[in-house]
Amino acid sequence: MKVTYLGHACILIETNNGYNIVVDPFISANELAKNININDIKADYIFLTHAHGDHILDTETIAKNNQSMIVSNHEIATYYNKKGYKTHGMNPSGSWQFDFGIVHVVIAIHSSSFPDGSYGGNPVGFVFEIENKRVYVAGDTALTYDMKLIPEVIGKIDLAILPIGDNYTIGVKSAIKAAEFVQCENVLGVHFDTFGFIKIDKQEAINQFKNANKFLTLLDLNSYILI
Ligand code: NI
Ligand code: MN
Repeated sequence: MKVTYLGHACILIETNNGYNIVVDPFISANELAKNININDIKADYIFLTHAHGDHILDTETIAKNNQSMIVSNHEIATYYNKKGYKTHGMNPSGSWQFDFGIVHVVIAIHSSSFPDGSYGGNPVGFVFEIENKRVYVAGDTALTYDMKLIPEVIGKIDLAILPIGDNYTIGVKSAIKAAEFVQCENVLGVHFDTFGFIKIDKQEAINQFKNANKFLTLLDLNSYILI
């Protein structure tokens, strides 16, 4: 599969058999992603880790353009379902076999109100199990021992997509520990540099991972890795 960085915490997963999965679309208000036109984005599915504006902003536009299925926790799925979108609600420890592969919902520790303050359930992370590979998308989260259960219960993680920007989520030091907990050396860093509180020194972050015998990838906008 191909994992493309669309800025902030937004990623696009393209499977070898042609499914497009967008996670946490926040593009149109992201100054660093201004070269992406959200009307160009193809999405069979939109996965949302929580209801904060920097994760859901472009959900409706993309879902309207593509008749995408929106997958999230029960409360967020219900919110979009009432607005007429196709949705699938899940909650932590739940797994579901989709047509592109299996998705496991895992715990994230954060908050999850919608931009208007209404209740957005509990934040979650996802493990995508596609084409015999597993990609862990942590979402916005604190460091938690629960991460240790992921490789134990779900299986080996091939890529961990972790926030590294600190302030709202784990920073570099905790992300290294999170990678250790999920037993994965390959990390794609997200949720950094977009706004003031989460600006980081990228080279320093890469060095810190290297010193811990882990490999941090930081992608330029629209760049991708193949898994
Ligand atoms: Ni958040
Ligand atoms: Mn966020």
